[in-house]
Amino acid sequence: MKTILTGIRVNSEPTLGNFLGALLPMTRLANKYSKQGDIVNIFIPDLHTIISDVDGDITEGVIREIKYYLAAGLEPNENIHIYRQSYVPAHSELNWILNCVATMGETSRMIQYKEKSEGKDSCNVAIFDYPILMAADILLYDATYVPVGEDQFQHLELTRNLAERFNNKYGEVFVLPAKTADQAKFMETANAETAESEHVDADGRAVGIRIRDLQDPTKKMSKSSKAENSKIMMSDNPEAVAKKIMSAQTDSLGKISFDMFNQPGISNLLQIEALITGQPLQTVIGTWAGETHYGDLKKKVAESVSTFLGEFQAKVAEISDEEVLRLLEAGEKYANEVAGKKLLEVQKAVGLRK
Ligand code: AMP
Ligand code: TRP
Repeated sequence: MKTILTGIRVNSEPTLGNFLGALLPMTRLANKYSKQGDIVNIFIPDLHTIISDVDGDITEGVIREIKYYLAAGLEPNENIHIYRQSYVPAHSELNWILNCVATMGETSRMIQYKEKSEGKDSCNVAIFDYPILMAADILLYDATYVPVGEDQFQHLELTRNLAERFNNKYGEVFVLPAKTADQAKFMETANAETAESEHVDADGRAVGIRIRDLQDPTKKMSKSSKAENSKIMMSDNPEAVAKKIMSAQTDSLGKISFDMFNQPGISNLLQIEALITGQPLQTVIGTWAGETHYGDLKKKVAESVSTFLGEFQAKVAEISDEEVLRLLEAGEKYANEVAGKKLLEVQKAVGLRK
């Protein structure tokens, strides 16, 4: 039995990229592993959320996020625990204790911190402390596998280092999460059943799926993009989807083939079509081989995405807030028990409790 844990911030509404790249694969992993007896914790890092600007109401964002998991097919059972970080005070307390173990040097080397702080006159302390709270999120639950995007791998390495240093100083309290290479292999077990593992980057390396910006397909589709036409939101209506996909940037090569380097726009559309319709990428590539009219492909992808989003939105509308709150309350009861026990062990180890 192992513990799998992940969290997604709720700063703004998820894009189709967040859905296909994070929510859907996590849902598949959660269903698969919880059914074979593993523990799966899906939590909302709301304390990480307030570090940067939040679009709209956080509570509503949390409820929307969980409805999205359920509409994506998450099948709640006794091994799946859904909770909000701020409802489990042990996270903040362990954050402080780990602050006493972490060094300025290692934390300053985090790429995310450097990117978010560089060139700014001032940035909040929490941006610096972000990965230490993330380490607390993970270590409180003895999590081995932490499915996250590659940009978070450095934080997982830091988590391992902090756990190891703590254990050396105070005794064996923490379980070390798996090394990043093993984390990557684990994540592939979600992808193996879908088209995603066939996704390759511009250099031909297999990577987790990355949906591209519709206006600039060399970049990933991002929530924070200002250009409305560059991203598809999960709440978009069919007209919006059609407008955005029909205006997607392509190229002038006049052939429909999968080539992320020379034809990122067309490749992105083929990738979206495969994931949305649940077909292997190679099948979709085969279907379009020899075709030359980009407009036909765009029309088909727009139809597939509209149909999919229509059905998805109908499922979301059927889920009541009460159902979500019931799941959260049960999850938070469980999380407070497990995390509280671990925190007490930590407090005893450092000498704060007898
Ligand atoms: P973020 O939007 O950066 O907070 O990312 C939340 C999650 O969604 C992370 O696991 C990302 O790796 C994933 N994600 C974000 N954008 C994309 C994208 N365009 N394609 C695939 N996955 C994405
Ligand atoms: N930092 C993660 C992200 O930006 C979110 C997060 C916070 C998280 N705490 C976590 C993910 C613990 C996994 C485990 O995507």
